[in-house]
Amino acid sequence: MSEIIIRGGGPLEGSVEVQGAKNSVLPILAATILHPGQVALRGCPHLSDVDASIRILRHLGCQARWEGDELLVDSSALSRWDIPDHLMREMRSSVIFLGAILARMGWAEMSYPGGCELGPRPIDLHLAVLRKLGADLREEGGHLRCTAQHMEGREIALSIPSVGATENAILAACGAEGETVLVNAAREPEICDLQNFLQAIGCQVRGAGSSTICIQGRRETHDAVHTVMPDRIVAATYLAAVAAAGGTVELRNVDYRHLSTVTAALHEAGCRITGGEGRIALRSDGRLGSAGTIRTAPYPGFPTDAQAILMAALLRSQGTTVFVETIFESRYRHVDELRRMGAEISVADRVAVVTGVPRLSGANVQCTDLRGGAALLVAGLAAEGVTKVGGVRHILRGYEDPVRDLAALGAKIEWES
Ligand code: EPZ
Repeated sequence: MSEIIIRGGGPLEGSVEVQGAKNSVLPILAATILHPGQVALRGCPHLSDVDASIRILRHLGCQARWEGDELLVDSSALSRWDIPDHLMREMRSSVIFLGAILARMGWAEMSYPGGCELGPRPIDLHLAVLRKLGADLREEGGHLRCTAQHMEGREIALSIPSVGATENAILAACGAEGETVLVNAAREPEICDLQNFLQAIGCQVRGAGSSTICIQGRRETHDAVHTVMPDRIVAATYLAAVAAAGGTVELRNVDYRHLSTVTAALHEAGCRITGGEGRIALRSDGRLGSAGTIRTAPYPGFPTDAQAILMAALLRSQGTTVFVETIFESRYRHVDELRRMGAEISVADRVAVVTGVPRLSGANVQCTDLRGGAALLVAGLAAEGVTKVGGVRHILRGYEDPVRDLAALGAKIEWES
């Protein structure tokens, strides 16, 4: 499965069920460390980032096994507190394990997570929060040695609503004495799902989804079953694919409310969209107009993870759309690959201007990162001719089976080994 081959240009039609959310299940997998017992995660997506997390859990002494799309984790036998370099390098967001390991073990060791395709990925906010809870963190040559024999809850204000730092703070605070109040916390739906999981195992966390989250630490935990929330970015990807190629799509297992800024942009560009309990339907004639200016922002703003995807949907349009990427330093690496298909995009620092063109041509393109790769699939479906997408490993970090899902919408798409 090294390449995906797309024969684009025709309208799509069909219905597809959206997988569980990568950015919810990754912090929840870290959170399983807090309970020395068994949990079952229903609707857990089969992703390479999930596999990487399972390898970390097993290294730490936990058991993890699949039963269909249910992942069973037992952290009773947790015995280690170190994450070796080769496991840290597999997945940048492994830093999310730090707070949970400290809460359970009182020690933690790991190497600095590498940067990634989106530019530097600092963890200064994660470390600042842990230090405020009383952890002693030593950084030596790219290695972190952490001691937290006694963490004390307190009020902590985050300088920016960082998703990962908010999640690490919640998990560490579950091991602290007393109450921790997080101010200026991130409000992403995935943090609400983490709170739901933590409440299910007996932790006392409330306020997720707002900017103020309260955690009462050191609660008795118990076994639980949790269903992972739907992946709103995967949902956005499939809506964008049909918006670009034209046709109709019904998404199942999706929360309309989590996608309101994305559906608003697609509506602005000329799509007809209806949402209901657990479903979204979209219709497009494939000739989109401008979506105006799309400025990424922390939730409930427009999600940075959908920026490349919406850009791809608007390449073949009758208008100009301006993107402003405010979250990551360099999140336009997909632009050169889209230009190979005939896209007209000009980039200056964090601003990208997309001038719609009448047609796109299939080409050989390479994924640059997870969502940039998904954008190439969207553009390939709207392009005339054959598009070969290489570097698909990037896409499999966050999409369980994009060929299966897009083929369900009538796309002419297949794996090429
Ligand atoms: C999470 O990353 C997601 N990853 C990202 O999704 C998503 O793009 C991002 O949140 C924003 O929504 C997971 O949930 C696994 P941040 P995270 O901390 O936690 C800076 C995808 O495609 N920052 O909210 O790393 C940071 O550099 C991925 O699924 C610091 O400066 O994002 C960025 O500019 C990509 N210091 C901004 O804050 C820190 O200590 C927002 O980052 C932490 C972050």
